[in-house]
Amino acid sequence: MASLAVQAPGRATSLMGRRLHNAVFSLSAALPASAVTKSSSATDSSSAAYSTSCSCFSRSVTSAQIGHGLRMVSTTASTWQHTVTMDNLNPAIKTMEYAVRGPLVIRATEIEKELQSGVKKPFTDVIKANIGDAHAMGNLPVTFLRQVLAIVSYPELLNSADMPEDAKDRARAILGGCKGGSAGSYSDSPGVEIIRRHVAEYIEKRDGGIPADWQNVILCAGASEGIRAVMKLLTNPNGGDGEKRPGVMIPIPQYPLYSASLAEYNMDQVGYYLDEEKNWSLDMSEIERAYNDAASKCAVRAIVIINPGNPTGNVLSRANIESVVKFAAEKKLFVFADEVYQDNVYADGCKFHSFKKVMNEMGAPYNNMELASFMSCSKGYMGECGIRGGYAEVVNMDADVKAMLMKSISAKLCPTVIGQTCMDVVVNPPRPGEPSYEEFAAQKNYILSSLADRAKLVADTFNSMEGFTCQVVQGAMYAFPRFHLPAKAIAKAKEMGQSPDVFYAFHLLENTGICIIPGSGFGQRPDTYHFRTTILPQKDALLSMLGRMKTFHENFIKEYAD
Ligand SMILES: Cc1ncc(COP(=O)(O)O)c(C=O)c1O
Repeated sequence: MASLAVQAPGRATSLMGRRLHNAVFSLSAALPASAVTKSSSATDSSSAAYSTSCSCFSRSVTSAQIGHGLRMVSTTASTWQHTVTMDNLNPAIKTMEYAVRGPLVIRATEIEKELQSGVKKPFTDVIKANIGDAHAMGNLPVTFLRQVLAIVSYPELLNSADMPEDAKDRARAILGGCKGGSAGSYSDSPGVEIIRRHVAEYIEKRDGGIPADWQNVILCAGASEGIRAVMKLLTNPNGGDGEKRPGVMIPIPQYPLYSASLAEYNMDQVGYYLDEEKNWSLDMSEIERAYNDAASKCAVRAIVIINPGNPTGNVLSRANIESVVKFAAEKKLFVFADEVYQDNVYADGCKFHSFKKVMNEMGAPYNNMELASFMSCSKGYMGECGIRGGYAEVVNMDADVKAMLMKSISAKLCPTVIGQTCMDVVVNPPRPGEPSYEEFAAQKNYILSSLADRAKLVADTFNSMEGFTCQVVQGAMYAFPRFHLPAKAIAKAKEMGQSPDVFYAFHLLENTGICIIPGSGFGQRPDTYHFRTTILPQKDALLSMLGRMKTFHENFIKEYAD
């Protein structure tokens, strides 16, 4: 049979990379020939037609047909007087912004299409370093994870000799927890019980035995959904404390999910600056300042901490975490611990400490504080962004409020069972002695150590560039270098009505094909300029990207020299 040999751009050519690739894609060999075939006439993505061919269901859809359908819809729509218009649209939706998928990314996609249609540019490919999407950048999926997903989706594979027994065991346990024994059935709204129990066991082990109750675990479609579900509890259309709107403290720079969600929920954003000179650590006097400035304007109800940090790549010390916990206790703040990068810690001397563990070890009253912590299968060594798996652990929440939270998530029915399955593998990976253990451990270590190498390479390269400073990328998947711009460039940007870092980022994109996100999308101190790049491109692409950036920056500085 034709195998699904879909080649991701910039795929690793190392021996290990090839091994992973073969292992993952050999899975297709285990599928019956009738299940998936790639049309032999499909030579490029625009005409690719994948067909399912079993006797009762045969369909082949091309993108041209889909495009035709879309055009028909828009023709009909043009005669219709819209009910929802920009005049009556929810104003909060107009206010919200999400830089990671903003205008630069739209332009990058246009440029890709221009290149495909033969337009000549000073570069031949677009590098999308704008988003922490590991697989999109050629990072490979972990075999065991995909095997369990495959079996849960297609239980016939339980009979396949190509599937290892430990993958079958995991899949059987999950299917046993699914209604009707199928991943196609709805689960309970907070997720399949057996998976919630596995998550609780994982947390308990991670935190050195501090108990975790599976009923406090809520599975969600990526951490984003969990964060937004808990955040929603704090909204108050009629004002928070008396007439004041509720406010939430978030780090600046921050991951724009927070600013976007707060805008959407009509809540106040209370930004506290991270200390760039101290590798983006938390500065308690700055947190006090931010709180005091905001307290007269809004009712500050919660604090968000992202650890390891996005976009800053910092890993908080235990002392730093203890200080925040004490501050949150004093101000009676609900704590959001965004810990989606808990596996991504690279720098010597850095260690991930969970908020839950630290709070518990600090004893009363801190071990009674309300906390929601979040994890995801999109990050770490998994990078399974598109599968949409995540969880929230909600600790010490008032029982009636927790019941309301459960009620509110029930309106969405449930996260996908495939996403839940992915989370299950992350918290319940192969154990020593099981058939898949060696391969799983080798793949996990390879991915994490390769990310650690890339983290160092990126920071070192920026630090070698004139006008750039970059803090150590201690963890997560990003660097957030600071760069200096000549006064002429700043003046030109202002003349064009753009913020200087956006002006720079558009020039970089048009001249090099590299898409990064300007610092203003995450927040930065006034009159400082940064951008965020991921460390995810494969080594060759990363070297090419950094080389292009360096040449571009030198030319840009010359062009706008004072
Ligand atoms: C800090 C942080 N939190 C949450 C998320 C959301 O991840 P997901 O919804 O894919 O689990 C991301 C994604 O990049 C992130 O960087």
